[in-house]
Amino acid sequence: MSGRKNRQWLLVSRPEGMFGEQNFKWVETSIPALKDGEILLRNLWLSCDPAQIGWMKVDTYTPKVPLGEVMRAIGIGQVVESRNDGFKVGELVFGFVGWQDYAVVGGRDLNAIQGLPPHTPPELQLSLFSTGMTAYFGVTDIGRVQAGETFVVSSAAGAVGSIAGQIAKILGARVVGIAGGPVKCEWLRKEAGFDAAIDYRAEKVGPRLSETCPNGIDVYFDNVGGEILDEVLARINLHARIVMCGAISDYASREYRPLRNYPLLITKRGRMEGLIIFDYAAQFAEAASVLGGWYAAGRLKQNVDIAVGLENAPKTLARLFTGENFGKQLLRIADPPLAVLF
Ligand SMILES: NC(=O)c1ccc[n+]([C@@H]2O[C@H](COP(=O)([O-])OP(=O)(O)OC[C@H]3O[C@@H](n4cnc5c(N)ncnc54)[C@H](OP(=O)(O)O)[C@@H]3O)[C@@H](O)[C@H]2O)c1
Repeated sequence: MSGRKNRQWLLVSRPEGMFGEQNFKWVETSIPALKDGEILLRNLWLSCDPAQIGWMKVDTYTPKVPLGEVMRAIGIGQVVESRNDGFKVGELVFGFVGWQDYAVVGGRDLNAIQGLPPHTPPELQLSLFSTGMTAYFGVTDIGRVQAGETFVVSSAAGAVGSIAGQIAKILGARVVGIAGGPVKCEWLRKEAGFDAAIDYRAEKVGPRLSETCPNGIDVYFDNVGGEILDEVLARINLHARIVMCGAISDYASREYRPLRNYPLLITKRGRMEGLIIFDYAAQFAEAASVLGGWYAAGRLKQNVDIAVGLENAPKTLARLFTGENFGKQLLRIADPPLAVLF
């Protein structure tokens, strides 16, 4: 493509604990001519997701990124060349685009690329309509929260957690959020409408859970695992549901910490259930309509934290592990699409 260079971050070694720039190589390559069936995307936005550290390290619900290949990332790109009748030049698409300026997509990889729904701002597609989906299905399908129940969520000011808590509130629960720092906790109480917030960096989580959840905990939406999960387990009610969404407090460690209080699940007939959002793909359209309706009615607040520049991809992703991000962390890597391309 007209001698343009493609800047890419390749994964070149697997982090043992936390990742850093040493695990990646910054390269500039040329863009190959398209073959029949392929499309060329100019990437505009990248989503930063805690799962990416897992994709660097191990096979999970998806195979780990092969060494020497472009780091996997969800994002939004614009079709700038197409040899595929299903994709028109100028169209915006989202899916797995990778840490690179341009993505050549063809064959089976096209299954992971879809057109952006009309009139959807990219920021909202990568937040409310992506991580918000995780929150939606976690709360409604696994948590099955009922009006009047006590719902606790960790990483509560983050992309998934903030939406999970607000959905539980809409469904009539009493909602307590656990987050790091006074600014995030104040936002939860004043802006997101949570009933209480616990600053796990400054307060003792166990005693504060006892204070803020005097009737025990019915649903816990777990984004962090570790000690916070243990403190919640010690306070669950009969038939409690624990939504196992994430365990970010251990992702940068070499191993997961053991739980002391899991036998409470036996006596309380509780249930812990894992969630992988891709299992709900067939129901995304239905959930988007519900989430979009709540958002348009001003019932859901979504913070989006935007960094700029492909060269900043590793350090922007790292913000998730220090809590520097406030809401959905995105990386804008190119200017908005040019109208001339449509
Ligand atoms: N299962 C699925 O399908 C699925 C899909 C999407 C996301 N997830 C999971 O959902 C969770 C949240 O993801 P997200 O995209 O919404 O990210 P996020 O919550 O917007 O950002 C990550 C947050 O994690 C918190 N954190 C980092 N280290 C921590 C620690 N040691 N202890 C406690 N909190 C810590 C930080 O918040 P504080 O400032 O509050 O510490 C940070 O802001 C992650 O565990 C992720 O893996 C799962």
